[in-house]
Amino acid sequence: MAIPPSYIQELTARNDIYDVVSRYVSLKRAGRLYKGLCPFHNERSPSFMIYPETQSYYCFGCGAGGDVIKFVMEMNSLSYIEAIRFLAQSCGMPMPEEDDGAAKVKSRVLQMNKLAAQFFYRSLNSDAGRNARKYLRDRQLSDKTIVNFGLGYADAGWQSLTDYLKGKGFSEDEMVSAYLAARGKNGRVYDIFRDRVMFPIIDLRGNVIAFGGRIMGDASGPKYLNSSDTPVFKKSNGLFALNLAKKSGKDTFILAEGYMDVIAMHQAGFNNAVATLGTALTQQQVKLISDYAKRVVISYDSDEAGQKATRRAMELFSKAEVSVRVLQMNGAKDPDEFIKKYGRQRFQMLIDQSDSALDFNLSKLKSQYDISNPEQRVEYLTKACDILATLNNAIRQDVYCTRLANETGTDKAAIKLQLERARSKKRRIQNYQKEKELLKNPLTRNVKADWRQKESTVQKTFAQQQIVCAILRNNSLYDVVKNRLTAKNFTDGDMRAVYTACQDLLESGQAADYSVLAHSLPQQAAQTLAGIFARNADIIITEKDVLMHIENLLTAKLSQREAGEKSVEEIARRIELLKGKKK
Ligand code: UTP
Ligand code: MN
Repeated sequence: MAIPPSYIQELTARNDIYDVVSRYVSLKRAGRLYKGLCPFHNERSPSFMIYPETQSYYCFGCGAGGDVIKFVMEMNSLSYIEAIRFLAQSCGMPMPEEDDGAAKVKSRVLQMNKLAAQFFYRSLNSDAGRNARKYLRDRQLSDKTIVNFGLGYADAGWQSLTDYLKGKGFSEDEMVSAYLAARGKNGRVYDIFRDRVMFPIIDLRGNVIAFGGRIMGDASGPKYLNSSDTPVFKKSNGLFALNLAKKSGKDTFILAEGYMDVIAMHQAGFNNAVATLGTALTQQQVKLISDYAKRVVISYDSDEAGQKATRRAMELFSKAEVSVRVLQMNGAKDPDEFIKKYGRQRFQMLIDQSDSALDFNLSKLKSQYDISNPEQRVEYLTKACDILATLNNAIRQDVYCTRLANETGTDKAAIKLQLERARSKKRRIQNYQKEKELLKNPLTRNVKADWRQKESTVQKTFAQQQIVCAILRNNSLYDVVKNRLTAKNFTDGDMRAVYTACQDLLESGQAADYSVLAHSLPQQAAQTLAGIFARNADIIITEKDVLMHIENLLTAKLSQREAGEKSVEEIARRIELLKGKKK
């Protein structure tokens, strides 16, 4: 649910951070701030600060920071929405969803869906369902499978379901909004699903949220018809059989393309299979899978389209916290057909032999080059070494070097040398990233300044932090900045996010302050920002300072190359020393 910024603004205005925090932490005034013992880590002397001006908190001991909503989330282990509800209740504000009756609409749609699923199930077992029963039997589905998936049949009538739901007290408009009925030119409503085998889509709470319907035999029309988006369903984040896969308790999921593939797999005992709903895989679905599974085996169709979709899916998964394997199938077009032809044991073998993402990537890479051509061979090997450099197992690296050497008839020693180069390049990049992370540690500011001057990356990030801090505390400084910098000058990801968000607000005539920003920003950026406010609480940043930071930002050179391993380790070591001193 998207909460409008105006609502957040009012909510945070009515829940002063001092009032809320002081219910949990005993706070003492210290100038313009309040101090207390941090509730998020164990400490004897207070390093937890409240900043009434920015309505933020920050702990110099553990780095926890944010606004009042974040505080309530962390303190009570609540989700974002739950924290908003909590604060709304405590100041007597109604929730936005209760305002517009959206919750009521949702619950009506869910009721209709449930009745419809039962209606379809009864039809399947009635006289009218004889053909559908035969169809499912011909596709070798057992009665148990039919019950397990709650399959049904929408009969051929144009008003069967609509009449039924009318009798249950639902209006035509409600049926249309649930995508169970459509309105014709003459104004009458009619059933969308007619003469189709019905597959209910069920969410993790057991609600029927949508349907897919398959045509039988050679009737005309699209093979599958799916619910479009409704108040309770978004195709782009739904997954078929997620409810069952989650119940399987397995930490690997199998991802297929089709309803029938999933059903065939479950029937064969692979009860951890899921599928998207007639659309390409989305980032939301990847997130959903990674919430419940540690590994995923992509098991798409073996045709050209399926293989293309596999590559796309792998790329999406590579950014998530799930390891990916790819199942390669020969002799059948999809898992359903494979299992029917060769049986469950051979399918299990396919899963066991499924390629790691590494193998898949290497063979994909290889297919782009003609290795009999020396130039192309060199390019292939160079790129392959970049891929191998991501492995952190030396033995695996060696095994793959041997394989590459044999495959291309190249000296293995040369390949290993190139691999070393690729690894040191990768280390340099990692160091640069690590250094940026270190800057976020509140203790870095206590490390003596010598390395800061050396490392222009650090300097650059510092300048960006001072600039956004100044703008947020005094919106009129934005004019000074916008004439000299663009969002691209903000090379630090978090700071760029903050600057872009400020830009959006200020350009549209709104004020940019922390309580609004904290919710449009990624969590990490919001927390970093709280830390920046904390570090600058006693520092005045004038227009002249801002100009100086802009100057520094524009002249400092990128130090990706210079950021040597040594300096990063040195900084980390000094931070450890400082921590030791504090204790
Ligand atoms: P397939 O054509 O591979 O279907 O489409 P399938 O699942 O193997 O079904 P059978 O075996 O022919 O019965 C894969 C998926 O793409 C979506 C459906 O979600 C289907 O399961 N699709 C396909 C549609 O949404 N509409 C269509 O017309 C076809
Ligand atoms: Mn199929």
